[in-house]
Amino acid sequence: MKRSPALTLAGRVVLVTGAAGGIGTATARALVGAGSHVVLVDLHRPPLDALARSLGPRALPVAADVTDSEALHAAVAAAVARYGSLDVCFANAGVAPARPTTIRASPVREFERIIEVDVLGVWRTVRACLPEITKAGGHVLVTSSVYAFFNGTTNAPYAMSKAAIESFGRSLRGELAGTGTTAGVLYPGWVDTPIIKGQQEDPAVRQLIRLATPGPFGAPVTAERVAGAVVKGIEARSTRIICPRRWAPVSAARGVVNMLSDAVVDRSRPMQSLIRRLDA
Ligand SMILES: NC(=O)c1ccc[n+]([C@@H]2O[C@H](COP(=O)([O-])OP(=O)(O)OC[C@H]3O[C@@H](n4cnc5c(N)ncnc54)[C@H](O)[C@@H]3O)[C@@H](O)[C@H]2O)c1
Repeated sequence: MKRSPALTLAGRVVLVTGAAGGIGTATARALVGAGSHVVLVDLHRPPLDALARSLGPRALPVAADVTDSEALHAAVAAAVARYGSLDVCFANAGVAPARPTTIRASPVREFERIIEVDVLGVWRTVRACLPEITKAGGHVLVTSSVYAFFNGTTNAPYAMSKAAIESFGRSLRGELAGTGTTAGVLYPGWVDTPIIKGQQEDPAVRQLIRLATPGPFGAPVTAERVAGAVVKGIEARSTRIICPRRWAPVSAARGVVNMLSDAVVDRSRPMQSLIRRLDA
């Protein structure tokens, strides 16, 4: 089977959503360092403008909500108008519950907004970018999470979204196979960015995380480390980027690991009492 050649990032145009956040900002910086032009997409202009100023003329800030298809099409048009093409899309914007809780106790609006941003936002981003990316024989990378294969107890809307994004990315990869355009999925473990603050503030949540992700699995890595893996992964057109790598064997053995981890939640009295606290 013929593989698509590696994608040299120098001179390429990369659209990054969630660009004002931890992983998005670090990746935009790393991409500019690799010689790319970056289109920075996030909800609000001021942080994007500040980031673009610090990155120089190879960065274009565009405010857009990833749930808004029209705004995304406008962002793609702005990228092409400024740089002449769009080669890579990093559909990375995401939100998580402000405070983990059970399905029963989840605020309806928050639950549904997470799915809207984390699932429909990725679909709308990729749909807006694909015509240009297929023209360029480029690459699409979507941000999932180790939550795609991890029991989502007390984080259901997030876990179900990330499992959906894994499925979306794999489907896209299959549909693009043999065309010269490629797609991959990013699976970060815990990364030290604002999105995990709500997950770490509540002592009950912290304890639950310690029980569910013991030892090094619970230790956050830096956004810069993920950005380095993303840049390498895009260049190699990797179908899977798992960062940190300690999660790779867990992903590979997920059939068995899933059965075991579900059974742990079924049996662990300390976990169940923490879940009851979050449910209250
Ligand atoms: N930090 C982690 O531990 C971790 C782990 C696995 C996966 N992820 C995923 O990585 C991605 C980036 O997260 P992060 O860790 O950098 O968090 P972050 O909160 O620092 O960044 C997320 C960014 O997305 C933006 N965003 C949110 N809703 C948006 C919308 N509707 N339209 C446009 N932009 C929007 C936010 O403004 C923010 O800048 C997310 O998809 C997240 O789910 C993070």
